[in-house]
Amino acid sequence: MSLDQPAPPAGQDDSTGREFTSALEDDDVLRAEHVSKRFGAVTALVDVNLHLRKGEILGLIGDNGAGKSTLLKILCGFQRPDAGRLIVNGEEVQLRSVDHARALGVDAVYQDLALINQLSVYHNMFLKREKVHWPLLANRGMRRAARNYLDEMGVNIPSVDAQVASLSGGQRQAIAIARTVYSEAKILLLDEPLAAMGVKEAAIIMELVRDLKRRREVSMIIIAHNYGQVLEVCDRVNLLQHGEITLDKQSKDTSVQELNDIVVEEYRRALEQRQRAAS
Ligand SMILES: Nc1ncnc2c1ncn2[C@@H]1O[C@H](COP(=O)(O)OP(=O)(O)OP(=O)(O)O)[C@@H](O)[C@H]1O
Ligand SMILES: [Mg+2]
Repeated sequence: MSLDQPAPPAGQDDSTGREFTSALEDDDVLRAEHVSKRFGAVTALVDVNLHLRKGEILGLIGDNGAGKSTLLKILCGFQRPDAGRLIVNGEEVQLRSVDHARALGVDAVYQDLALINQLSVYHNMFLKREKVHWPLLANRGMRRAARNYLDEMGVNIPSVDAQVASLSGGQRQAIAIARTVYSEAKILLLDEPLAAMGVKEAAIIMELVRDLKRRREVSMIIIAHNYGQVLEVCDRVNLLQHGEITLDKQSKDTSVQELNDIVVEEYRRALEQRQRAAS
């Protein structure tokens, strides 16, 4: 479909006759329809259709450069799509900014973390939603709440007064996640939340996600590379390959083996193509 053409209604075939991989559901809290994005010569996303149901955890997987972070950044208002629509809680929206998305209950933890190194742990946790005891910041309240959140999560941070710059990558990641999890957001988008984590910290985050899932209070999209972890914690999985969603399955209907096979097959095909081009 040309990017200039208006998008056909959701759930129908487009003019190429290609079937959408993602069936739309009535209780979707978030939808991307026909989303495309280019960066100069690089096509990051091609006609992507993705949906997230209420209380669902969707795993987004795919190789490096497949377009996962780009999709997430579009869903949280950080980047604008070149084409396509976003629907949040049943209403079409044109997200103007991350703050706009936050106001609609959508919050993200980025892969390239958005923490401010020079600020303390607790200031970072309340960044952009500082508690105010007019006309001053309610530092004591924020400090106490930050300590409680991190203790509740079981995250080991020596002091909430420490500058974020002095913390390890995993500790920083934990703070970014805690900040989002304890926000008011009902739709959480986590880009590789386990990437910088040690085994214990990863287990803590996984448990937190499971706990949120049990309570069904939030819906989540989690980007991760470990298929085992994805299938363990997510209800459904979408595979992105070269900017296109090529698989959309319930976790119970797929396996690490199947996901591996698909990706290995992609390598094999790309290699063959290169060899053909070289000969
Ligand atoms: N701001 C940008 N400017 C130019 N190109 C970009 C930009 N952001 C992403 N890209 C390109 O878009 C493509 C998709 O990138 P993206 O970061 O979405 O991949 P990803 O699936 O998150 O990969 P990874 O698993 O390595 O994090 C890549 O080719 C990347 O180089
Ligand atoms: Mg990424």
